[in-house]
Amino acid sequence: MAQRILITLDDLEAAVRANAAFEAAGYETTMVSALDDARAAARREDPDLVLLSGGLHEPAAQRLIGAVRDSRAALLGLLEPTDAEPAELAHRLGLGAALVKPCDPAEVVAVARRLIERKRLQERTGILGEHPAVQEVLIKIEQLAPVSSTVLVEGESGTGKELVARAIHDLSPRRGKPFIAVNCAALPETLLESELFGHEKGAFTGAAERRLGRFELADGGTIFLDEVGEMPASTQVKLLRVLEEREFYRVGGVAPIRVDVRVVAATNRSLKALVEGGEFRQDLFYRLNVLSIYLPPLRERRSDIPLLVRRFSHEFARLHERPFRGITAEAMQILVDAPWPGNVRQLRNLVESMVVLAPTSEIRPSDIPADVLEQGRERLLPVRVPGIAREVAGQELTYIVQSLIDLRLQVEDLRRRMDERPHRVEVIDLPQAEPAYAEVVEGGEGAEAGAAAKPAPESVVLYRTGMRMAEVERAAIEAALRDSAGNRRRAAEMLGIGERTLYRKLKEYELESEGTSSPT
Ligand SMILES: Nc1ncnc2c1ncn2[C@@H]1O[C@H](COP(=O)(O)OP(=O)(O)OP(=O)(O)O)[C@@H](O)[C@H]1O
Ligand SMILES: [Mg+2]
Repeated sequence: MAQRILITLDDLEAAVRANAAFEAAGYETTMVSALDDARAAARREDPDLVLLSGGLHEPAAQRLIGAVRDSRAALLGLLEPTDAEPAELAHRLGLGAALVKPCDPAEVVAVARRLIERKRLQERTGILGEHPAVQEVLIKIEQLAPVSSTVLVEGESGTGKELVARAIHDLSPRRGKPFIAVNCAALPETLLESELFGHEKGAFTGAAERRLGRFELADGGTIFLDEVGEMPASTQVKLLRVLEEREFYRVGGVAPIRVDVRVVAATNRSLKALVEGGEFRQDLFYRLNVLSIYLPPLRERRSDIPLLVRRFSHEFARLHERPFRGITAEAMQILVDAPWPGNVRQLRNLVESMVVLAPTSEIRPSDIPADVLEQGRERLLPVRVPGIAREVAGQELTYIVQSLIDLRLQVEDLRRRMDERPHRVEVIDLPQAEPAYAEVVEGGEGAEAGAAAKPAPESVVLYRTGMRMAEVERAAIEAALRDSAGNRRRAAEMLGIGERTLYRKLKEYELESEGTSSPT
């Protein structure tokens, strides 16, 4: 089916010329006279691309861009020759790309084609983001997916390394074959080897049967070696051999096994630094680092945060059947400013919890957990400094201040990691008549109960960084059940979910018997 282009007529001449070029190239086109009409048309026609031929600085253009940006349509704008810094302007306006008039219609079509392809790739891989760094990652994925070379994906925790590894597999000729992920940090040395390479019957105590390893299971497909930097030295030697010879032995085996597997490895620590510190083999590093992709932390591409927040909140509102009207500008600004040490994963988890827990259908600053608010505030203090520094003493001082800020962020990150104890999930539950308090303890040994004496300020379920959604949800369900004295229909109403959904979740969390008991 032909791809559809919607063209606004704000600049009649540019629009007509582009229209002719699109038609000649086999696209279906629709021209709409006013920007406001274009919004309705975009909804009606579900175009692949909207071309704004002019009037980009008018409020109507902003409304149109706002309406289209979260749809599957790509956005291309034509700027006036008087517009300064077109690329920066396009990014600020929320366009996928912009061209300065007068422009060659053939170029308009070529850019549109690329934008549509990129947008499709994003829908297909789930890798969201308009920031140039993300666009660069997408281009790289497209380029290296078709070949079989080893890829090293580097980036902090939660930046999307696994998402990228899956995208590489899904866009490669191997897509019909298995994608097998192994977390190299999760298993002790001996188990990791038998997990990767399999073992023969009787190879070690407990090896009652022959077992195929992940490399064999991935034959024809892709193996994803996650946290490869944590791989023990002896396993590194064996992996090197697989990469060099394309063959290996099962543990306890004598016959070499040949496989056709593409290796994608990921690490959230710099492998190069590990090599320098003698913790990772240099020869293996070179073997893994044939092609590489670096995922920047979220704090270095903050302009993507609003887009991610909008997409995630719609996704979770649908999933959890929650009414959702949006997020206030103030709350969005706090999210844009927060430091996000856990990157996109942390943002995604937070949005999910806010969508579920926000008392109204709109997310407000008060719905943002205190730790994120505080982190955001801490950040404001040093970041104001470089502006002043620049005025006073130029680039050198700016550089020093910037380095100090980076150092400070790293120290904060370290401190946060050290602070990471087993999390305690508190559910504060305050029925009108008789205040009650209960808590759910997660993480076992280390978590001490102690807050039970504190009076609960209001009826809230507390979210803490690092909590999984299931824990938040389970806690909310328990609170609602206590609040409704075990009446499931009322509990479902209170939670704003269907009764059927509640039953399913009770089963899932094994709350069936205790959930209906009277409050403690
Ligand atoms: N660009 C992105 N667009 C949309 N979702 C993203 C993006 N990047 C990451 N995510 C989401 O964030 C979460 C974490 O991503 P992923 O598991 O790929 O990170 P990771 O780098 O492998 O983290 P870790 O090092 O902790 O294993 C996932 O839910 C993923 O879908
Ligand atoms: Mg991962």
